Amino acid sequence: MKEGRSSWTAQSVALVRALESIRPDSVRLFDDPISVSFLDPWFRAPFWNSAGARMLQYFSAAGPGSNMYYAVTARTRYIDDHLLQFVNKGGLQLVILGAGFDARPYRFEKLLSGVRVFEVDFPATQQSKIRRLEKAIGNPSDNVTYVPVDFEYEDLNKRLVEIGYDPSRKTCFIWEGVTMYLTPGAVDETLAFVAGNSPPGSSIVFTYSRKSKSAGKLLEGVSRLEHKFLEIVGEPQIFGIEENNLEAFLRERGFNLIEGLSGEQLIDKYISSRRFKSRAARGAIALASVSERRGAS
Ligand SMILES: C[S@@+](CC[C@H](N)C(=O)[O-])C[C@H]1O[C@@H](n2cnc3c(N)ncnc32)[C@H](O)[C@@H]1O
Repeated sequence: MKEGRSSWTAQSVALVRALESIRPDSVRLFDDPISVSFLDPWFRAPFWNSAGARMLQYFSAAGPGSNMYYAVTARTRYIDDHLLQFVNKGGLQLVILGAGFDARPYRFEKLLSGVRVFEVDFPATQQSKIRRLEKAIGNPSDNVTYVPVDFEYEDLNKRLVEIGYDPSRKTCFIWEGVTMYLTPGAVDETLAFVAGNSPPGSSIVFTYSRKSKSAGKLLEGVSRLEHKFLEIVGEPQIFGIEENNLEAFLRERGFNLIEGLSGEQLIDKYISSRRFKSRAARGAIALASVSERRGAS
């Protein structure tokens, strides 16, 4: 991430959610009406009239970028479903790691009214979100706490616990679209925090890229051109988990794998029409629970 610069990739994900939200109720995977408020003017321009937005939605879902469109919509729905289950089973604490323009605390305001929510993110992205959110909905409710943290350099434990995170409460951690932008050290530190500071049965749901065992190449990463662009904006994709090694990777770090889906499987779970769908799915997803209490990190 570039110092002082809000995340470009967070914008692009918010754009996809805004586009999915204009589809009819009967077919869309979720409704995220706030996401349009997070967009920079050039991203928001097509939404000035409904025909422009509909056209962009069509080309995003049918054109060359459709793999990104379906990957984001499917993962958003998967995580929404998990969050609903967690709260319905009595979960009382939610931590959104690398929250970007994730609007779950506001989309699910009623459902989460009794849940303590922490939004952790890179400081510049978070500042931009707070400003736009204030414009869109006024002050967010008291149960949401913002925690500016750079996963590469800062101590998550110190920042979260200082601000009121309760390590004894069963917690749901969401880490959506973030691990691929981090160094292996930052991924390990974050997982060590989760395993060491939440009781067994707490859950983490995260997306990641699979990495080939032999060449170490990201299998669900971006094209070479996108990679170059992401380097320029300061968000190159660098991290992956070796293919077929997810369960062991998590076990070594104090987690039990509940479900792991490849990008293809994730898309197949929610999207039946293959008419426009690109085969090159992106981003696998993992749902895991904290298995044993490790020493607090
Ligand atoms: C693709 S966006 C995903 C945002 C959000 N989770 C979502 O799904 O809408 C990546 C997010 O990771 C955050 N991020 C990347 N590197 C980070 C770092 N070193 N420390 C904290 N956050 C980071 C960015 O600020 C951005 O919000």
